[in-house]
Amino acid sequence: MTTPNERLADLERRAELGGGQDRLRRQREGGKLTARERVDLLFDVGTFEELDKLVTHRCRDFGLEKELVPGDGVVAGHGRVDGRPVYAFTQDFTVFGGSLSETNAAKIVKVMDLAMKMGAPVVGLNDSGGARIQEGVVSLAGYADIFLRNTLASGVIPQISAIMGPCAGGAVYSPAITDFNIMVEGTSYMFVTGPDVIKTVTHEDVTKEALGGAMAHNATSGVAHFAVPSDRECILLIRELLGYLPSNNLDDAPRVATSDPVDREDASLDALVPEQPNQPYDMHDLIQVVVDDGVFLEVHQHYAQNIICGFARLGGRSVGLVANQPKVLAGCLDIDASVKAARFVRFCDAFNIPLITFEDVPGFLPGVQQEHAGIIRAGAKLLYAYAEATVPKITVITRKAYGGAYCVMASKHIRTDFNFAYPMAEIAVMGPEGAVNILYRRELQDAADPVGRRAELVAEFREKLANPFVAASRGYIDEVIHPRMTRAKLIAALASCENKRDKNPPKKHGNIPL
Ligand code: HXC
Repeated sequence: MTTPNERLADLERRAELGGGQDRLRRQREGGKLTARERVDLLFDVGTFEELDKLVTHRCRDFGLEKELVPGDGVVAGHGRVDGRPVYAFTQDFTVFGGSLSETNAAKIVKVMDLAMKMGAPVVGLNDSGGARIQEGVVSLAGYADIFLRNTLASGVIPQISAIMGPCAGGAVYSPAITDFNIMVEGTSYMFVTGPDVIKTVTHEDVTKEALGGAMAHNATSGVAHFAVPSDRECILLIRELLGYLPSNNLDDAPRVATSDPVDREDASLDALVPEQPNQPYDMHDLIQVVVDDGVFLEVHQHYAQNIICGFARLGGRSVGLVANQPKVLAGCLDIDASVKAARFVRFCDAFNIPLITFEDVPGFLPGVQQEHAGIIRAGAKLLYAYAEATVPKITVITRKAYGGAYCVMASKHIRTDFNFAYPMAEIAVMGPEGAVNILYRRELQDAADPVGRRAELVAEFREKLANPFVAASRGYIDEVIHPRMTRAKLIAALASCENKRDKNPPKKHGNIPL
């Protein structure tokens, strides 16, 4: 006769063994950590509290009644990350391939509901063969229950997904709704329909990796925000990312003490922007010099590299950075860059993270493909996102701010709090060459020395219009700053935004052009 204590110990041991030693070994041999190793790494040592460890499935068909694994293929609960509460669920591939059953889904729903109630972030570690086939529609219902919670939690608590194995079919839509997706290179993949179905329907040959591996979604589709080489780096990245975020939408991100002086000047910035307006430079160099201790966590690093998004700290305060990248497509805004930045801006706005914009943009990318694919709609997303954002907004125009892109990239006119420009900034409807071509076409056709005359007119245009001083004389630019002062100016501006209050008119929700 076993005692209650012995019975509990036996159940706990079986839960911890998951799908058994053989399957755990296979998991490790495949280069993956087990569900429990992942959880241990995610939380501060000794803080993880597991919930529903003894839950089992209720399926009585297909022989499943004989296979009851306590925990039913998902480890769920809460713990602390750098001392702050976080909820998490991690699918255990060793139990029925981590597939989602009625009870397994109920466990996930429970931690999501608790996370919402407690105002704490929720982290989902995905490693699953999808809907538990034996349970049919009951499993699909479980997915829908999760999707609903993902949607309701959006903008209330940060939601982070990691893909650490398979994630296929409709199951992809939970990570897709969450704020950030991290994929492990070589061991994870996401797709709605896999290579076999694609082969049957479209006769295309494609591998899982090429179709939905980490780089496919980081560099091509933009579904994933980070690619990491291993499970360990994946979990450490989640911890790092959480450090920039508040626990919920009513909270502020944690402040982190820094020894980096708030008034630190850097003379290298005075020479960063080349004198030749068409010569590229790397906007990362500017970011690195300006932010606390040169630490920048780039989001969507491999996607739409003509715009840079990411988190850093200024004077210890978390900020979201959006920056045109003159090194790629001359920093033009195209469809992908607009959508990437719009989603990032909306995340920061939802979670009280001030937005810093570094602007060097010659305009929207011209081309039939861009027009026909909807650059108008995509650009409108970014414009809308910036315009509706009520968090502190600060912009620095480093060089070009042309045309519609000037308006879109957090201009004064869409409620940006502080707008700075470097002395070499060119704020105009278009670049001097383009303007002269349009305005003086006839005169240049008839000129005795068209090349010389054109150079004169370009210089005159630049002097009169393509500079920051016209905008500054109207108050559209609050201050023309010496580049070396960028950090000090930003931190002073941020400090003055400390108690910012701004709001949008009451409405059910806006209608962002999706
Ligand atoms: C039940 C499953 C399962 C599932 C895997 N298993 N997927 N059990 N339901 N969906 C079990 C296997 O039977 C096996 O059990 C164990 O998990 C490991 O699976 P293997 O196939 O041996 O592993 P591997 O070779 O690594 O292949 C992994 C896999 C493959 C690619 C994920 O298992 C697979 O294709 N599974 C089915 C995927 C799928 O079509 N799911 C439905 C998608 S649609 P044993 O006992 O041998 O260890 C969907 C809809 C979501 O999810 C709806 C949202 C709206």
